[in-house]
Amino acid sequence: MEAASSSQCSYSYEEYKETADWLLSQTENRPKVAIICGSGLGGLAGMLDDKNVFPYRDIPRFPTSTVVGHEGQLVFGKLNGHECVCMQGRFHFYEGYNIHTVTYPVRVFFLLGVEILIVTNAAGGLNGSYSVGDIMLIKDHINMPGFAGQNPLCGHNEPRFGVRFPCMSDAYDRELRALAKKTAEEHGCGSFLQEGVYCMLAGPTYETVAECRALQKLGADAVGMSTVPEVVVARHCGLRVLGLSLITNKVVIDYDSSEKANHEEVLKTTKHRATDLQRLVSQLISKL
Ligand SMILES: *[C@@H]1O[C@H](CO)[C@@H](O)[C@H](O)[C@H]1NC(C)=O
Repeated sequence: MEAASSSQCSYSYEEYKETADWLLSQTENRPKVAIICGSGLGGLAGMLDDKNVFPYRDIPRFPTSTVVGHEGQLVFGKLNGHECVCMQGRFHFYEGYNIHTVTYPVRVFFLLGVEILIVTNAAGGLNGSYSVGDIMLIKDHINMPGFAGQNPLCGHNEPRFGVRFPCMSDAYDRELRALAKKTAEEHGCGSFLQEGVYCMLAGPTYETVAECRALQKLGADAVGMSTVPEVVVARHCGLRVLGLSLITNKVVIDYDSSEKANHEEVLKTTKHRATDLQRLVSQLISKL
């Protein structure tokens, strides 16, 4: 099992450094922005100019991706004239990766000199006023795996990355969110832009009706199976974060409903609105 063999309990500073130094020796790009592309949102990487592509399997110590719809490569290049690095295909906890492996790339980005992390994902809408195809700016998160002891910062704290007890009340950068809102309005995306709370569950099962109702009561607007561990690690090492969820389905909160969540549906919807989301990110980057 590929995933299991590349899972590790935790990594030393030197391991992240080895990966980062190798990348710095292979590319002349010095990105300040890293983008993690969610399910079906890998098209962003295709928008980069002057690309430098590194399949995960070629990068020393880098984990590899297994899920359908996730290409596994790191793409360096210019988006609207700005150097960035795109992670095309992320690592999910449900694939069997250790939580430290899921977040491995974020510390590599930090060591590359990245200052801003943009995370995107496909999520289920819990908020009754959301429509399929809406883009939700993440205002805050609920780290459900963290409640259950799966926090990527558990274990030895490496002070070269950050402090033992990092603040999370300001996880999603206020200025970046304001900029994203302004950009969306300027480009006619304001009508389907929402702002809300993302709740992460470990997956891979979709939520039961009772779970969805519970999450709504907790104040979550969207639910998904990613993003939060990467954001926690990014904030620990001082990166500014912007998060965007594409609402690809509405969760089932009615026992009489015959609707069922399925991954193919998610991928299909994503294709449709993904272009808008990708364009939004690209326009936003030109303003940083
Ligand atoms: C749902 O979204 C709307 C629009 O963003 C917001 O006003 C509302 O507080 C959210 N939550 C609930 C429970 O409706």
